[in-house]
Amino acid sequence: MATLASTHQATPPIWLMRQAGRYLPEYRAARARTGSFLELCYTPEKAVEVTLQPVRRFDLDAAIIFSDILVVPDALGQKVWYVEGEGPRLDALTGPSQFGKLSRARLAEHLTPVYRAISATRAALPRGKALLGFAGAPFTLACYMIEGSGSPDFARVKNWAYTNPDSFGVLIDFLIDAIVDHLANQVDAGADAVQLFDSCAGILPEEELRRWSLGPMVKVAGGLRKRHAKVPIIAFPRAVGPSVLIYRRPDIFAALSIDTAIGASWAAEHLQPHICLQGNLDPAMLVAGGPALAHEAKRILDKLAGGPFIFNLGHGVLPQTPPEHVVQLVEIVRGWKPSG
Ligand code: CP3
Repeated sequence: MATLASTHQATPPIWLMRQAGRYLPEYRAARARTGSFLELCYTPEKAVEVTLQPVRRFDLDAAIIFSDILVVPDALGQKVWYVEGEGPRLDALTGPSQFGKLSRARLAEHLTPVYRAISATRAALPRGKALLGFAGAPFTLACYMIEGSGSPDFARVKNWAYTNPDSFGVLIDFLIDAIVDHLANQVDAGADAVQLFDSCAGILPEEELRRWSLGPMVKVAGGLRKRHAKVPIIAFPRAVGPSVLIYRRPDIFAALSIDTAIGASWAAEHLQPHICLQGNLDPAMLVAGGPALAHEAKRILDKLAGGPFIFNLGHGVLPQTPPEHVVQLVEIVRGWKPSG
């Protein structure tokens, strides 16, 4: 089975969050041949094709299955759709009286195309390349389910969590079980490791962060461990600043994915002695390319590649990224040598 990072690696492995997507002409072509974004996610042959596109083009070390965090609410019975050029929309949950329309009963059946795509991708990938499954963390899923779309502050979610923590907790607990099911099914289908995206974590103050982000992520990991004792779990608590220290839990997570705002020097000192890191190039550096990209990628490598490290971005690839800049980045990472 492919492994992503070890302590004795000549150069760190590299993959990129959102490595499949609109910056690739072959993705846009596949997307144009398909009715909707969800249809692309739920048609195994197409999902396999777009999953493999960036790995073939750039020889990345891992594939991440082409899907979305919002397939889970969709499978639970909350309608999800995508507005071109704007992003996802959901029939927002406005109160606990609507929990009755959510059910885990049909999750595995609804998401069977995702699991089929994982099995077929694993079969098509060379053995040395890892295949990642993923899910949104409970808090981030709750954010989209309650707000009904993306939002700069998720004010309605916070108001619900702060004024009615009991019913918010019911939703979070329900999501923990659903996410465990979805991740375990992905590992059953052939995923070598999984990443938990808590993209919205950064909107919470410290105590709420422990309660609604870290706590539920630890419970997801515990539930997954009962079904797959050894599967590596990568945690991505985005934009949490120095509170990232509370996610430094090598007993729970195999790696911690850090966003761009976490300084590589600080991470080398406070995080990496304890846990494998993944990150954290600014996606805008990949848009810029040239000397700016080379300088920043080497700076991160010099700080972090001496320890357990997976090269990645601090967030997803931007649609305006020139694909040649990804070629440049892979060359820099593969050519890196420790100094001294
Ligand atoms: O990384 C990969 O290549 C795997 C596929 C993947 C997608 N979304 C495909 C996608 C992954 C891992 C995600 C995760 C995801 N989805 C997150 C967590 C990571 C993050 O970005 O913070 C979130 C919050 C979502 C929800 C979501 N899906 C949003 C906000 C959007 C709209 C923004 C956008 O880029 O269009 C999507 C749509 C989406 N998910 C696209 C892709 C390739 C674009 C759809 C299109 O083709 O138009």
